[in-house]
Amino acid sequence: MAKSPRPLVAGNWKMNGLREHGLGLVRDLAARAAQAAGALNCDLLVCPPVTLLSAVAEAAGGVLSVGGQDCHAEPKGAHTGDVSAEMLADLGCRYVIVGHSERRADHGEGDAQVRAKAEAAHRAGLTAIVCIGESAEQRDAGQTLAVVEGQLAGSVPAAATAGNTVIAYEPVWAIGTGRTPTAAEVDEVHAAIRSHLKSDDAAAMRLLYGGSVKPGNAAELLAGADVNGALVGGASLKAADFWAIAEAT
Ligand code: PGA
Repeated sequence: MAKSPRPLVAGNWKMNGLREHGLGLVRDLAARAAQAAGALNCDLLVCPPVTLLSAVAEAAGGVLSVGGQDCHAEPKGAHTGDVSAEMLADLGCRYVIVGHSERRADHGEGDAQVRAKAEAAHRAGLTAIVCIGESAEQRDAGQTLAVVEGQLAGSVPAAATAGNTVIAYEPVWAIGTGRTPTAAEVDEVHAAIRSHLKSDDAAAMRLLYGGSVKPGNAAELLAGADVNGALVGGASLKAADFWAIAEAT
């Protein structure tokens, strides 16, 4: 039976991909998606580096959605090197990732800033993918649910709905490490996230799992009732692997 809400499989390319690789990847995925047509049980999204957004959006041909990996909270202004949500929308993006743990760690982004970015995404008509997740120390200390609930309360805008927001649960210790929680642990956290969502349509909001999702573990990790797809890093850089994960939903 098809899952509800319909899963989303999102590829976060991070700071990877020059033109040749990125365009080859999106063309390969778009061809597979066009051929599969209605047979795929999920929506597909690629989030390339900002340098490739325009070309990837064109090559995606509407079969795949395209998103940014971050945005500034302001629509425009004196913010050298930054990109606004409006600029992403202008390039054809429909989504933007905010609050990825690498942004939180590398750029000191906290919950309030992440929430402001998600609000900026909404203002620009984009769906915000808000990332949350505990560190290894926090998990070892038994604080996983408390940390995730605190990040949810701080990072998710009051106006978040199933139509404008996706939550990505990404344990920091599972990102790029090849280690993952068990499926039961993912299910436990996702159920807690669902129960803490404030919007009236919380049951319809997509909750993604991210952190070392691969073709070999996707079916198991994504099986839970409250797991509505994946945010995929490393494995999204190979068309065959990303596709196999999409097929596993
Ligand atoms: P990974 O990254 O799949 O390489 O672990 C996931 C992410 O950071 O979104």
